[in-house]
Amino acid sequence: MHSHYSRHIFVAAIALLLARIPVGLTEARHFVARPANNLALTPPMGWNSWNHFACNVSASLIESEADAMVASGMRAAGYRYVVIDDCWQVGRDENGNILADPQRFPQGIKAVADYVHARGLKFGIYSDVGDHTCQGRPGSRGHEYQDALQYARWGVDYLKYDWCDSGGLDARSAYATMSDALRATGRPIVFSICNWGLYQPWLWGAQAGGNLWRTTQDIWDHWLGTRGFSLGVLDILDEQAGLASYAGPGHWNDPDMLEVGNGGMTEAQYRAQFSLWAVLAAPLIAGNDLSRMSPAIRAILTNREVIAVDQDSLGMEGRRVWKEGDAEIWVKPLMQGAEAVVLLNRGDRPLRIRLDWSMLGLPGYLPLEFRDLWRHEELPVARHSLTLQVPPTAVTMLRETPVQPSG
Ligand code: GLA
Repeated sequence: MHSHYSRHIFVAAIALLLARIPVGLTEARHFVARPANNLALTPPMGWNSWNHFACNVSASLIESEADAMVASGMRAAGYRYVVIDDCWQVGRDENGNILADPQRFPQGIKAVADYVHARGLKFGIYSDVGDHTCQGRPGSRGHEYQDALQYARWGVDYLKYDWCDSGGLDARSAYATMSDALRATGRPIVFSICNWGLYQPWLWGAQAGGNLWRTTQDIWDHWLGTRGFSLGVLDILDEQAGLASYAGPGHWNDPDMLEVGNGGMTEAQYRAQFSLWAVLAAPLIAGNDLSRMSPAIRAILTNREVIAVDQDSLGMEGRRVWKEGDAEIWVKPLMQGAEAVVLLNRGDRPLRIRLDWSMLGLPGYLPLEFRDLWRHEELPVARHSLTLQVPPTAVTMLRETPVQPSG
């Protein structure tokens, strides 16, 4: 009895400790939640240089990717933001103004932003809360307002803000400082919090003025398994379960960018990442070389039926409703009583996966219509359940709508 009791106290003490970690002990009492900026009412869509090009960024690269976004039909499919990640910056001038690499950006950043804007796209950039970015370039610590003003002058529409060299900083306060600085410029700038899921950013990211926050460490172009700091698609997916209630219009969980088209996975695995990210209402930020895409990869990234699931204006993130061995079912509520359903086969043998209406929260007698969002065809109307064969390491993605009673 006594030991039971002290175990409860121990558990409660740990829980209390953990609950306090996200906000730190001092700032918690004084923190004022920032009002929403009314941006990113659906998950942001775009392209970012990091996954494919890492530090190899330049004006000509960004401009050719912007051109490819238009030529490939991606702009027409809804992609907007062209984002330069780390390594564009080399130092500061004598007044502390951030300087772009003069070799790689000979006309400066504004010229690149203008080029991107002239193609009907939006322009994004990257910085970091610390003195240095993850690649050792100058970060924004102590220069937040100066940098934000510079970004606004350049025409920046989106800032990804990283967490390297953050020693001694309270995450929520540090992100709030930059979001205040962005807001003070008067220019609408989407704010992307990138602190790798540390300190549960889903609990405070929106309060800190974030439109999206990374929920995990970095992705790599791999189905399952970690490599150093990086996680495979399924490793990331596993960490999204339970986070759905924190996402909504203007504030999204960010399971990191797409690897679709980068060469390390099969087309079926890329369709799976794209489908799962759509059901998670994740930002759809392509990370491949858009100027050298195969037609199959382009077809994945521009699948409008899948994009419509991601961009559904209800803004609800999907949940995992069932899991058994390598089989999982994820469901996302959509406008007008429809739902998106992903049947996932994680393993390397084909699986028959049975969707029961109870997993959808619907009575078995209700006749349901299904559309296969990759085959682009309707399935016969069904009642109670539907069983489909899903190939190895792949998904089947469906859109379900209740059949309207006639007459
Ligand atoms: C971190 C981020 C990545 C990328 C790199 C750049 O690892 O999580 O997304 O921005 O830094 O250095």
